[in-house]
Amino acid sequence: MTSVPALHSLVEDAISAAAARVLPRGAAGRDPLVRPSEHADFQSNLALALAKQAGLAPRELAARLLAELADGPLEAELSGPGFLNLTVGRQALWQQLAARLADDRLGVGTPLAGTRTVVDYSGPNIAKEMHVGHLRSTVIGDALARVLGHLGSEVARQNHLGDWGTQFGMLIQYLEEHPQPAGIGLAELDELYRAGRQAFDADPAFRERAQRRLVALQSGDPATLAVWRELVAASTEGFQRLYDRLGVLLTPADVDAESRFNDQLDGVVEELRAAGLAVESEGAVCVFVDGVEAPLIVRKKDGGYGYPATDLATLRHRVEVLAADRILYVVDARQALHFRQVFAVGRLAGWLPDSVQAVHVPFGMVLGTDGKPFKTRSGGTVRLADLLDAAIEGARTAVAERETVDEAVVRAAGIGSVKYADLSNARTKNYVFDIDQMTSLAGNTAVYLQYAHARVRSILARAGAAEPTVDPAAPMAPAERALLLHLDGFGAVLDEVADTLEPHRLTGYLFALAKALTEFYAQCPVLKAGTPAVRANRLALCTLTARTLVRGLGLLGIEAPERM
Ligand code: ARG
Repeated sequence: MTSVPALHSLVEDAISAAAARVLPRGAAGRDPLVRPSEHADFQSNLALALAKQAGLAPRELAARLLAELADGPLEAELSGPGFLNLTVGRQALWQQLAARLADDRLGVGTPLAGTRTVVDYSGPNIAKEMHVGHLRSTVIGDALARVLGHLGSEVARQNHLGDWGTQFGMLIQYLEEHPQPAGIGLAELDELYRAGRQAFDADPAFRERAQRRLVALQSGDPATLAVWRELVAASTEGFQRLYDRLGVLLTPADVDAESRFNDQLDGVVEELRAAGLAVESEGAVCVFVDGVEAPLIVRKKDGGYGYPATDLATLRHRVEVLAADRILYVVDARQALHFRQVFAVGRLAGWLPDSVQAVHVPFGMVLGTDGKPFKTRSGGTVRLADLLDAAIEGARTAVAERETVDEAVVRAAGIGSVKYADLSNARTKNYVFDIDQMTSLAGNTAVYLQYAHARVRSILARAGAAEPTVDPAAPMAPAERALLLHLDGFGAVLDEVADTLEPHRLTGYLFALAKALTEFYAQCPVLKAGTPAVRANRLALCTLTARTLVRGLGLLGIEAPERM
């Protein structure tokens, strides 16, 4: 479906058209350099950029562009050394509001239609409880999957579960020796893992039995495999419960676990050898890549395969079977070298053609309020489930300050706060997990935006209006203009998120939108507006703002309750 173009792009078109008339050859294909401005609605620097080539003084060129714009709908003004200040006519702005209201995509196009994106995110490890490190991948990956999908890309979510590896020999052996009467749940698994690890480190005889168990697992011993399956099932169910609670899109169908590639690993290494890319080095099989500081170990000394070989097989699958154009790996920044190696080897082996983009989308660490890596008081890792409980309690305080408590709202606020705090921090930076701050009503938080939304809904409910109507002849206050222009930038900010893979650009946009709304309330009474036309236009602005807040939060995976 086509959607209403943003004013920004209409202004760009007008400037490009004017430039084409002034400089028939010189302006073709040039970015018209239009930006939102404090001095007008927009400003263009095109005259400064083209002056030299046109052999004109910048102000002279700007004046000629100005003359071309004279009959159009834009008010243009020359300023400084050759800037064009551009203001959109009031009528055109009101008409834009009306068009936006009739467009269920809120002016957002589908520029990524026809592309396929793989988003690899979450990827927790079986038999260990998900901890706060996996939170970032889960929340950021989910927001990116939503935004890219909304812009038209066909998105394949891939949850690369760590369900294979040497730890399973130890764990299965420990379970065999310590049968669990009540069955295994995720919480018990974490305990068992720790106990198993302790026995493994302390008792050489146990270590030997564990190693034999690993060989049994790898060679497909049915009894051992059965226990392994049980472990995987218990963990996967626990993870899914957490995903459902968090409100992320991941389902069991998105699981793309490491073990799935086991039978391809021989082939991967053989192909690399045959191509002369892999060589024996100190008993292991390695690929050395020019410009990458360390070799990728595709087969270990003991003959086993690990994370690197598995990721190569996974990469090949994503290109050949999933037909991806772009593959995003939303994984901890500490794995940067691993991905550089895997992508480089993938290119050399021909599994990752130039037409396909593979991107490591790294993120920083979660810190405690003491500025150190987030730990429990006793130094253990913090369970994600406990964190969510704590955040919901924090949000309860914020919500209860205002209204009678509705549990669904408290949950939406608590979960939303955790996600928003993560998404609103620049992705690559570390951030401090601080429940008081993330549930504060006075800052760049989920609850602030959720309140802004609930408040505008309550105004609309009191007005009792059906679908709003817009009167293009009505006057326009500066705060109305500012709000409208900000609403108009929604599509552009989503494009920016898709380009930079930085969800905090969207949180920043929504926060600024809520502030523009507050300023609008302060200057423009809605329900008590002076005339019916003014009131109708203000209700229309409220409606579009409410829809944009819901859509924007929704693309971050955050709920916007009707009432708070
Ligand atoms: N299981 C890994 C970890 O916890 C993350 C997997 C990321 N995805 C990948 N294709 N390597 O570190």
